[in-house]
Amino acid sequence: MYIETKGLKKSYGEGGSFVQVLKGVDIGIRAGEMCVIQGTSGSGKSTLLNCLGGLDSIDTGSVTVAGTSVEKLKGEKLADYRRKNLGFIFQFYNLVPNLTVRENIQVCEYLSKSPLDMNELLEVLGMSEHADKFPSQLSGGQQQRCAIARALVKNPKVLLCDEPTGALDSKTSRDILMLLEKINAKYDTTMIIVTHNNSIKNMVDHVIYIKDGEVSKDYYNEVKVPACDLEDL
Ligand SMILES: Nc1ncnc2c1ncn2[C@@H]1O[C@H](COP(=O)(O)OP(=O)(O)OP(=O)(O)O)[C@@H](O)[C@H]1O
Ligand SMILES: [Mg+2]
Repeated sequence: MYIETKGLKKSYGEGGSFVQVLKGVDIGIRAGEMCVIQGTSGSGKSTLLNCLGGLDSIDTGSVTVAGTSVEKLKGEKLADYRRKNLGFIFQFYNLVPNLTVRENIQVCEYLSKSPLDMNELLEVLGMSEHADKFPSQLSGGQQQRCAIARALVKNPKVLLCDEPTGALDSKTSRDILMLLEKINAKYDTTMIIVTHNNSIKNMVDHVIYIKDGEVSKDYYNEVKVPACDLEDL
């Protein structure tokens, strides 16, 4: 497996505020697949994604990405690993307010030896005409496209998305999902998408449900519905 967790446990807090969030998660994700992680609020989806991305430490178990034991990396090595291999997209775009679209993307372009072509990426994302605007001058969907461009410009092998459409209306959500689909097909980027939405799972290869910190369902779709045909976004 390209991405794998074994017996992954993660808790927060101590004493009275102790919570066991992940209770022994075993998952495997193939290179180039699109995978959705679903589950109710508080089930541990974001925690799992953050552990996969090395944004959070784990208690026990293992997290392996392309042969690298992420849980063993620390400090500079971990930061370097994240920089080289991973792209992150969050629900609230986290753009730098006093940088333009182009500058927000450039911040990450410098992190890679082989970045994607900035103008091509802006074109693919339909953002060329907004390149010199500031985030406050953009709609939510445009800001999310900018955040996606920023995550993709270094051409990461793995893209981790936490509720990428959570703050968007259904039309913009569809546009963003079509974009992710296009990028997956074009660059073979492995994508893990955490979502509340019950429809998005139909467009991806692999679906994992987390319930109360454990995997409750894990299956591959036999037929995928293209994002353009999804209902109830
Ligand atoms: N930094 C933290 N400190 C303490 N508890 C935390 C922390 N982060 C998450 N938790 C707790 O861990 C549990 C799982 O949180 P997580 O954010 O992974 O859920 P989620 O499935 O992503 O939920 P949502 O769908 O609402 O985003 C929750 O009970 C939450 O309160
Ligand atoms: Mg979450």
